[in-house]
Amino acid sequence: MAKIPVWMDVDTGLDDALALLLASNCKDVDILGISTVFGNQSSDKTAYNTLKMCEFLGISVPVAVGARKGLLEPEIDYSKGLEMDVHGADGLGNIGERLPEPKLKLSDLTAVDLMAEKISKCHKKVTIVATAPLTNIAIFLLSYPELAEKVEQILFMGGAMYGGNIKPTVEANIGHDPEAAAIVINSPIPKVMFGLDATMQCFITDEERNQMKEIGGNVGAFLCDSLDHYAMLYQTIAGLPGAVLHDSLPMAWLVDPTVAEVKEFPVEIELTNGITKGCTVTDVWNREGKKTNVKVAISAKREQLLKMHFDALTKFA
Ligand code: BDR
Ligand code: CA
Repeated sequence: MAKIPVWMDVDTGLDDALALLLASNCKDVDILGISTVFGNQSSDKTAYNTLKMCEFLGISVPVAVGARKGLLEPEIDYSKGLEMDVHGADGLGNIGERLPEPKLKLSDLTAVDLMAEKISKCHKKVTIVATAPLTNIAIFLLSYPELAEKVEQILFMGGAMYGGNIKPTVEANIGHDPEAAAIVINSPIPKVMFGLDATMQCFITDEERNQMKEIGGNVGAFLCDSLDHYAMLYQTIAGLPGAVLHDSLPMAWLVDPTVAEVKEFPVEIELTNGITKGCTVTDVWNREGKKTNVKVAISAKREQLLKMHFDALTKFA
């Protein structure tokens, strides 16, 4: 089978690292490159973490650094520590120093320029898998409108039909850059939104995390330990029995669409300043009579997704 060309955009990040783990094991996927963006940590740290994780996982592709802040949002001062410390001060659960210094270097090109180069040269349409604020993707669409036709689809982790995680109705990736999300959502490119409605169903219990250690050698041990604090947060704040594998879902669905059920709805991004700014307003009953524009993951199969992680880990035994 011909491989699916994919561009990844990440803010590594604990669950982004798990998405990279899955990517490292997708034989049907050809990763053309990876762009990084601010989000879980500063842009410098997420780029550095991405290089480290790629090398650790044996992913050898160009990596380029992208946006440091949202399009209209002020730059976040990460040095002061975040209100809710989800991914640790280093973005890798405070154990990133266990990984060796990466030999892999960042591209001299900016994220969007490298994306443009790789996407324009690709003989097939490219799928974008984004698991971070959508800033790089929006800048790419604005800077290279002629390349939109070379994008097959945009699969993104972000948003929620119901609820939120940084504000009552706002999910982090969208809330960090609502204007960028609006540009992406309003583009004519087919889109699938993997929001909290589906991703929150995909947790890994502490017992299952320990199995990662047994199965996956150094990689399994690192990933298991990196999730300690993250798992504790989900257990105490969300009352879940474990850590949530948000960012793995889009890549998993790309190679096996049975892992999540998707349904098409009209979706808009709330841009009015206030508590709901960044909400992915999903018209599930089509009250406004608008055209559907986004496929939305409405449920996901936790055990199936987990098995894909375990399968990916076996090669590191
Ligand atoms: C999303 O925000 C980040 O914390 C995670 O990496 C994930 O992409 C979940 O809301
Ligand atoms: Ca992420």
